[in-house]
Amino acid sequence: MAEFKDAPPGASLLVQSTVWLENRFPTLFAEYKKHLSEYYAPKNFNWMYFFGSLALLVLVIQIVTGIFLTMNYKPDAALAFASVEYIMRDVPWGWLIRYMHSTGASAFFIVVYMHMWRGLVYGSYRKPRELVWIFGCMIFLALMGEAFMGYLLPWGQMSYWGAQVIINLFSAIPFVGPDLAILIRGDYVVGDATLNRFFAFHVIAVPLVLLGLVVAHLLALHDVGSNNPDGIEIKAKKSPKTGIPLDGIPFHPYYTVHDMIGVSVFLLAFAAVVFFAPGLGGNFLEYNNFIPADPLQTPAHIAPVWYFTPYYSMLRATTDVMVTILVGLTLVAGVLALLFGGFGTKGKIGVAVAAIVLAALLETFDAKFWGVVVMGASVLIFFALPWLDRSPVKSLRYRPRWNILLYALFVLVFFVLGYLGMKPPSATGTVISQAGTLFYFGFFLLMPWWSRIGEFKPVPDRVVFKPH
Ligand code: HEM
Repeated sequence: MAEFKDAPPGASLLVQSTVWLENRFPTLFAEYKKHLSEYYAPKNFNWMYFFGSLALLVLVIQIVTGIFLTMNYKPDAALAFASVEYIMRDVPWGWLIRYMHSTGASAFFIVVYMHMWRGLVYGSYRKPRELVWIFGCMIFLALMGEAFMGYLLPWGQMSYWGAQVIINLFSAIPFVGPDLAILIRGDYVVGDATLNRFFAFHVIAVPLVLLGLVVAHLLALHDVGSNNPDGIEIKAKKSPKTGIPLDGIPFHPYYTVHDMIGVSVFLLAFAAVVFFAPGLGGNFLEYNNFIPADPLQTPAHIAPVWYFTPYYSMLRATTDVMVTILVGLTLVAGVLALLFGGFGTKGKIGVAVAAIVLAALLETFDAKFWGVVVMGASVLIFFALPWLDRSPVKSLRYRPRWNILLYALFVLVFFVLGYLGMKPPSATGTVISQAGTLFYFGFFLLMPWWSRIGEFKPVPDRVVFKPH
């Protein structure tokens, strides 16, 4: 057992209690130092670094409001819709809890998208933070599952038909698809069994996984240290006396105070939505979801909530024509790789065989299946980012100027895809989303090539810090 320390004579009650606790729970104090008061973060964090702590805040809001919702919600197909109405009308403050939870879902995605965007522009996914990024991508997948399953619970028309459409997609997977869809539903159609299992996953299984992943995400980050807007490794320049990075400042109190600005602005915007526009024009709560689920009446237009629509758009863009384009692109890529790839004979044969096999597979299965593959790949591709980016510098600040344009175009395409995914399908919309899908995948798949070209600016030795 470690030595017990004594409080200094005449110490206040607070100091005495702290010493008492430290003697009995030294790990708590050691972890506080390691992760807060002696975690040295780069001094040049900007507002883009608010979103990690905001994601933590939203996670807490969702868990707390979720617990209170569960006290009055009924996971039963015959009672679920009415129980949500009961929460809204009769439970004291129920409307606030419910609106906080529904707004929190969208807020979570806004915050996490901004957080991922920050990672993208500053190259935070690059060595040595690959695992931090991978845990982040796993969090993103869990978050999508959590949101999808939560959306079924109010048992409105959109809950029901949205789940029906998405689960049916799984049946397009060759061989195992139909059985897999039944396994997910627990029935031949979305029904009470589906609601029950989604409830179990939404309230306990996925939140536990999410919490575990968030802990892993932060531990992995604190092992390697934070990146910063300059993409400079601050651990490379340490004070010879203290061993502390010269450009590092303790996370607490500096960034706990800095983050309060982010929290204040966020809470203002959050409260504005919760109190004045909880549905946000049908975007945070869809109009059709105020109608109870009716298995006999399919709504004219079924669209997922906004945070899923970019991927949904890519699913819908994968028509027969698109598959033919993909066959053509696969063969062209194969020929280009053969001509300019610099492979040996064995490599060339490998590339040719791979291109032919992929083209043949594309022709074998129908477009619906490839749509599912494209939609899945559009999310999974984030995992590969650390290995796709070959730029000599991390941060966009020191990359060629045209990269800024390219990143801006990427965001624009993401928004356009998102917008089109909310709208009913149209001929023009399909062509635009096909072009957008090709750009989206081109951005990632051609990254090993384009990230290396152009004129890079010299990266300074120390971080650029402007006091504000
Ligand atoms: C529940 C969701 C999440 C929570 C609570 C969370 C939390 C955090 C926190 C508190 C930090 C440190 C502060 C900061 O750098 O902003 C951080 C850093 C980071 N996160 Fe997340 N995160 C989440 C999701 C994600 C996702 C989805 C990704 C990417 C796919 C991601 C990638 C990163 C990266 C790369 C860093 C290091 C950034 C740097 O050092 O520049 N995170 N995260």
